[in-house]
Amino acid sequence: MDKREIEAMVREVETRCGPFCSCEELDIHGMPHLRQVALTAGRLAVLVGCDVESAVVAGFLHDCARVHDGGGNRHAHDSAVLARRLLKTFYPHLDAPRLCEAIARHADGRTTDDPLAACLWDADRLDLCRLGIEADPRLLSTRAARRVAAIRRRRREDLHPGYPQGRAE
Ligand SMILES: [Fe+2]
Ligand SMILES: [Fe+2]
Repeated sequence: MDKREIEAMVREVETRCGPFCSCEELDIHGMPHLRQVALTAGRLAVLVGCDVESAVVAGFLHDCARVHDGGGNRHAHDSAVLARRLLKTFYPHLDAPRLCEAIARHADGRTTDDPLAACLWDADRLDLCRLGIEADPRLLSTRAARRVAAIRRRRREDLHPGYPQGRAE
């Protein structure tokens, strides 16, 4: 599956589920973040060999019930509750308990052995780059994401030798 097919999947999940997401107006966790995490999760899923549609949908829904840009993991649990309803309506063929578990735990600051959760959590952490923050490689679950983080770090070191290191999230 190539990038354009994954982008089409992202557009589909946004058309179906976007109107129900409470995060739409947020500055750093709005639609661009949901789209980017969905796309990256789908691309990681291709690389690790897990179901691409599940990764794209989980990626899009992971912050769907956010109501502010603050920290903590409450929004992850709220998003899992809303995601369960949206999955039942729009994606009844997907494994809702597995997707919702990945969504509920994405802000716990851990790594995982579950390939689907790994694609989602890594995609979310790689998108810290939108804030000028590098993902902490110790908190990335897939080799593919650690490779991306290493490439970005080398590029940053070449271009901006004094730039501060990223923090964990
Ligand atoms: Fe989140
Ligand atoms: Fe997020």
